[in-house]
Amino acid sequence: MTAQIPRILPLGEAAIAEATALIHAGGIVAVPTETVYGLAADATNAEAVACIYAAKDRPSFNPLIVHLPDRESAERIAVFDDAALALAERWWPGPLTLVLPLRPNTGIAGLVTAGLDTIALRVPAHRAMQALLRVSGRPLAAPSANASNAISPTRAAHVAASLGNRVPLILDDGPTTAGLESTIVGNGAILRPGPITAEQLGLSAASFGLKVTAPGQLATHYAPAKPLRLDATERQDDEWLIGFGEIAGDDTLSATGNLVEAAARLFDALHRADAAAPPRIAIAPMPDSGIGAAINDRLRRAAHR
Ligand code: TXA
Ligand code: MG
Repeated sequence: MTAQIPRILPLGEAAIAEATALIHAGGIVAVPTETVYGLAADATNAEAVACIYAAKDRPSFNPLIVHLPDRESAERIAVFDDAALALAERWWPGPLTLVLPLRPNTGIAGLVTAGLDTIALRVPAHRAMQALLRVSGRPLAAPSANASNAISPTRAAHVAASLGNRVPLILDDGPTTAGLESTIVGNGAILRPGPITAEQLGLSAASFGLKVTAPGQLATHYAPAKPLRLDATERQDDEWLIGFGEIAGDDTLSATGNLVEAAARLFDALHRADAAAPPRIAIAPMPDSGIGAAINDRLRRAAHR
């Protein structure tokens, strides 16, 4: 009898114990965070980190975010100035990633930072990632748990569909709540817009757009398999329409025009559109205010091909 690969286990003590054994053995595990599902490995084990890049087919110049259980552990790895400390105190645990100067001799594998002298750190709020961090006792490098350039996963089934037998274990704790990757801040600027908005951070939103800011912000990131038309107010014959607000679609992100609800559902809707029969996808316009900036950032990348 062949075992089911990947194994999908509901979150619980047994699942965390199995995931911890894999992490300690230098393996990779898919685990939910409040943003998207991540593909985690021990950040101090270069071979384990290499397994992440291999499973995703990820260009090795693209550095990874390291996840930690609390700010104290993060301060042992990077140097926090007053501004970074204030952001960490206000937003951690949560969907904020800080790019900070890396301390010497932390044991973090060079492959994690792709040779940069800065490191991206995040203290996630999700109970599954928190449990794995605490029980394994390791800093965990984790990009989104999808093949490189594909749509980020917000459910265990998305991970299984994208990575298949390239990941041995997926911890399943249902759909993620934020639905978009974390906001990345470095040098007082937003490098990647996300669930925590420029307004909430008191930072300028001027620095982002299609230009490459974080090294991994390739213009074609987050692409569905089908062509995507933005700002669609109605469906053309060969399209699957994703609606918003007053524009009703085959699928609607938020009938009431709620941007937070739309963000949480966005990637799931793109996955469904990819799986639907029509060969093209169209999506209704969304305002650029608040988390709408992050939604439109992901959509521009998804449409750029
Ligand atoms: O919500 C998230 O952030 C998810 C979950 C799993 O935590 N992770 C995630 O990781 O989105 P990933 O690998 O898909 O995106 C990491 C981004 C990339 O754009 C990368 O270039 C940037 O972080 N990054 C990592 N280290 C950096 C550094 N030292 N300087 C600038 N950007 C960095
Ligand atoms: Mg990603």
